[in-house]
Amino acid sequence: MRRRDLFTLAGLHSASIAVAQSAAAHVRDRTPESLAADEDYWAEIRTAFTVDRNIINLNNGGVSPSPRVVQDAMRRYLEISNMAPVHTMWRLLEPQIESVRRRLAAAFGADPEEIAVTRNASEALEICQLGLDLKRGDEVITTTQDYPRMITTWRQREARDGLVLKMIRFPVPPPSLDDLYQRIEQAITPRTRVIHICHITNRTGQIFPVRKICRLGRERGIEVIVDGAHAFAQFPFRHEDLDCDYYGASLHKWLLAPHGTGLLYVRRSKIAKLWPLMPAPASMAGDIRKFEEIGTHPAANHNAIGEAMTFHHSIGVERKAARLRYLRERWSRRLARHPKVTILTSPDPAQSCGLGMLSVKGADAGRLTAELWDKHGILVTPISSDEYSGLRITPNIYSTLEEIDTFSTAMEKILA
Ligand SMILES: Cc1ncc(COP(=O)(O)O)c(C=O)c1O
Repeated sequence: MRRRDLFTLAGLHSASIAVAQSAAAHVRDRTPESLAADEDYWAEIRTAFTVDRNIINLNNGGVSPSPRVVQDAMRRYLEISNMAPVHTMWRLLEPQIESVRRRLAAAFGADPEEIAVTRNASEALEICQLGLDLKRGDEVITTTQDYPRMITTWRQREARDGLVLKMIRFPVPPPSLDDLYQRIEQAITPRTRVIHICHITNRTGQIFPVRKICRLGRERGIEVIVDGAHAFAQFPFRHEDLDCDYYGASLHKWLLAPHGTGLLYVRRSKIAKLWPLMPAPASMAGDIRKFEEIGTHPAANHNAIGEAMTFHHSIGVERKAARLRYLRERWSRRLARHPKVTILTSPDPAQSCGLGMLSVKGADAGRLTAELWDKHGILVTPISSDEYSGLRITPNIYSTLEEIDTFSTAMEKILA
């Protein structure tokens, strides 16, 4: 198969993107906030998905369904891969990762030479966590509400390399962004070498003052790793708003890209000193692509990110963020009126977006989750720790108001 034929195949008309673009054409002059409540617009967007409507999926934070156009691209690339993989996958499809890199870099606001395409956020973050040269006694600051796998990774370095992990606590919601900053600042000692924080946490959806913390780290000679698993493509930001050196994100969450895709940003001046997870030739030391030296892997997944980006841009991240906020406010304002319910997510738009968490006095989160699923077909995420427990609720842009209200009604019934 020649490259030209391949592109003809890849250029097949994509109905979902046409849907998103035609929906956008009718609403060009509207603000994202007014459009957030426009059910006609979102009804059109919904048709791009192939979800099972007999399930009310309010756990899109775990992993999201991709629109049909992304699934089609995956299938197409998979078929092409299987024609003669050494030729069609390695030589024809694999180089297209450069176009994905360029587009991800443009969306993130970075140079393509600073973006690696990974298999998920865990891989991107572990490259940073395991790739920094640190020695016995060096301290790492993170929070008790950071992602368990990332904490496990630091625990392994504690056991293996003698690092010291310091995990700070913070109330939910916190009194202010400054409060979060101060907690981090107060935990710094002369031995602190790394600060590891979420851009937005996966539990209560708390957004952190990333830019300020990165500046603090730079002033004190401390590396700052930012876990953006949930941030990229959920709400608008650019690299210049964060000014971070290391950033890892999932693309199969809010970008709606194929399952098993992620992004790593490393500032150009930091690449040479960061070891890859899988060793790469010394000649690649300063090349961001050294983080992609993972052996044979499918090209279909990372190439279909391109379709997810086109779909995403056809809606626009501002509109998406406004809709996700609108959905969160719909269930949280209603359930907040219940005497047993406390909303643990800040209502301040600077501190939250689509992820929300509620806690129910005297109720077991696991039991509530089981009852919602068994009796109502509703998927939510139970979260329990020694600090708080409750349900994380994450609708998506394909969610209907009826689904949100069915969840609220089910909760009211269970609590009664
Ligand atoms: C805050 C946070 N960090 C990291 C991850 C890991 O992401 P992935 O599953 O893409 O590796 C997750 C996944 O839910 C997360 O919520």
